Amino acid sequence: MSRTQPSINQPGVCFFFTGLSGSGKTSIAIALDNALHHQHGRQTTLLDGDVVRTHLSSDLGFSRAHRDINIGRIGFVAAEVVKHGGIAISAAIAPYDSARRAARQLVEPYGRFILVHLATPLAVCELRDVKGLYAKARSGEIMAFTGISDPYEPPTDADITIDTSKVAIADALQLLLKQLNDTQTVDNER
Ligand code: ADX
Repeated sequence: MSRTQPSINQPGVCFFFTGLSGSGKTSIAIALDNALHHQHGRQTTLLDGDVVRTHLSSDLGFSRAHRDINIGRIGFVAAEVVKHGGIAISAAIAPYDSARRAARQLVEPYGRFILVHLATPLAVCELRDVKGLYAKARSGEIMAFTGISDPYEPPTDADITIDTSKVAIADALQLLLKQLNDTQTVDNER
């Protein structure tokens, strides 16, 4: 069997990240994507928030209704990927509990949904301010910015919680790979 062909023992999985802008979602998602694809031969699809908003959700803004539609689209694509035995990695803010649960419901008929909360504190994300957006949000140049002038609902159903101000990306990656391994071990024993 080819290295990249999903085996019957490797069902589809969705890693669904949630966390503030600057919490480390994209960095960890890219590391996970690389490791699963290049080292473990899995078919991966990375659904990064900024990329999805460029290609799939360019019609949407940041109202609650539009964020919910955005997460709904990601959930739909993730479910399709998981249905076909792939690994979907979603890295959007996904600030609302109900939208995250809706995505979980779309995916779970086909495979595991692993909710990863990047619980990096707002103060750290703001200090990083990689894109300069927190400064703009504070000055009022950007409205309804998550964590500043728009809500973020921390999940109560996270499968794994990581604070990237305390955990290095390489260590976070190992935690996620262990979570996947544990999940698949349980599934294989059923
Ligand atoms: S979500 O709320 O719908 O999940 P998503 O992850 O797609 O958000 O997009 C967030 C990205 O859009 C942020 O990383 C940031 O670069 C950018 N952005 C622009 N305006 C906002 C805003 N008002 N709130 C949050 N992020 C914003």
